[in-house]
Amino acid sequence: MKPEDLNRNGSLFGGILLKWIDEEAAIYTITMPRSPYVVTKRVSEINLISSARAGDILEMGMKVVKVGRSSLTLKCDVRNTMTHHTMVMIEEIVFVNLDFSGFPAAHGKRLEDLHSIEAEKS
Ligand SMILES: CC(C)(COP(=O)(O)OP(=O)(O)OC[C@H]1O[C@@H](n2cnc3c(N)ncnc32)[C@H](O)[C@@H]1OP(=O)(O)O)[C@@H](O)C(=O)NCCC(=O)NCCS
Repeated sequence: MKPEDLNRNGSLFGGILLKWIDEEAAIYTITMPRSPYVVTKRVSEINLISSARAGDILEMGMKVVKVGRSSLTLKCDVRNTMTHHTMVMIEEIVFVNLDFSGFPAAHGKRLEDLHSIEAEKS
């Protein structure tokens, strides 16, 4: 975290953290495996559990929990590796795969295959 990421209390801005989560979740989806044209469709309740301060290091965990025809749903949790506390839990971040015209398109992925890829990566 950098000084510009912090609010007047010296803790991380919630909006900055959400931006990082959206970027990380999009990268995770794009590389699971190749799905270059995904957009964020819906984010479920965001439970901000604890904060982080300057110098803290955060760790994000992502897992595919649901696979539809064009959609992929991730579960996300963010941990503060310095305090060992969970900072945020989000049960569902939904991405939709689009075709070249911007319409939802089948991604052809199966939950079992994505879980195998996740297991190989961890
Ligand atoms: C993504 C978008 C093209 C989907 O359009 P749409 O009319 O909802 O499309 P559909 O009804 O065909 O649904 C497409 C998929 O999204 C899912 N979906 C739609 N609304 C949903 C919602 N509220 N929550 C969860 N999933 C949803 C559908 O179940 C479907 O999934 P499936 O194919 O796996 O069954 C359109 O909503 C859009 O362009 N949104 C803006 C996205 C954006 O700009 N994000 C920020 C920048 S990344």
